[in-house]
Amino acid sequence: MTWDQWIRTVEVEPSVYAADFARLGEQIEQLLGAGARVFHFDVGDGHFVEPITIGPIVLESIAPLIHREGGAIDVHLMVDDPEHYFGALQTSGADSVTFHLEAVSDPQSVAARARERGFQVGLAIKPETDVQDAADAATGFDLVLCMSIHPGFSGQEFMPGAIDRIRRLRSGLAPQIHLQVDGGIAIDNIRSVYDAGADLFVCGSAIFGMEDLPPSYRRLVQQLA
Ligand code: DX5
Ligand code: ZN
Repeated sequence: MTWDQWIRTVEVEPSVYAADFARLGEQIEQLLGAGARVFHFDVGDGHFVEPITIGPIVLESIAPLIHREGGAIDVHLMVDDPEHYFGALQTSGADSVTFHLEAVSDPQSVAARARERGFQVGLAIKPETDVQDAADAATGFDLVLCMSIHPGFSGQEFMPGAIDRIRRLRSGLAPQIHLQVDGGIAIDNIRSVYDAGADLFVCGSAIFGMEDLPPSYRRLVQQLA
């Protein structure tokens, strides 16, 4: 399976990091019931980003629920040494890995290692990184992830400067490369992120921070119709 088979023109991806971990399986089932099929999974090592987030052990518990419905798990590696985690992520059921340009010296060779394990591959950039550097390095990647917050925590405000960065990235990337945006996406800005050229929308608190998850997911999807 590939990104092109997973996505239905656009995808709103619930960001598992923002879930209530006491009810994780139940919340994922609710979102699968509402139609979500691509789930975003943030791995933070406590070094590239301050928090130690979630990792392969949690992934292994939820992957069967998602795969049973034909869904996919998109792992965002906020870590210093992404390659180090590929083996464990493969065993636990990850479908794609996105690592940060700022964390590696040779993105193409890290991407090649990921492909050897059967992953789809993404390249992420922090808000301070020049979008041209990402566009130049993105050849052969399946997606580029443009962060619209400083990576680390859910629940931060969308950085308004991200809209222009998304626009510039879209025009600098080959058309087959998906453009994902992560951080602060909510009901009042998802449409402008779409209009700027993104097709993959990571949503943490805009889904899991709400009382009722399925309508929150569906309302975000409706903004893209
Ligand atoms: C944080 C993570 C995000 C996070 C997004 O750095 O990469 O995926 O869960 O959460 P919201 O949508 O609340 O900004
Ligand atoms: Zn993320």
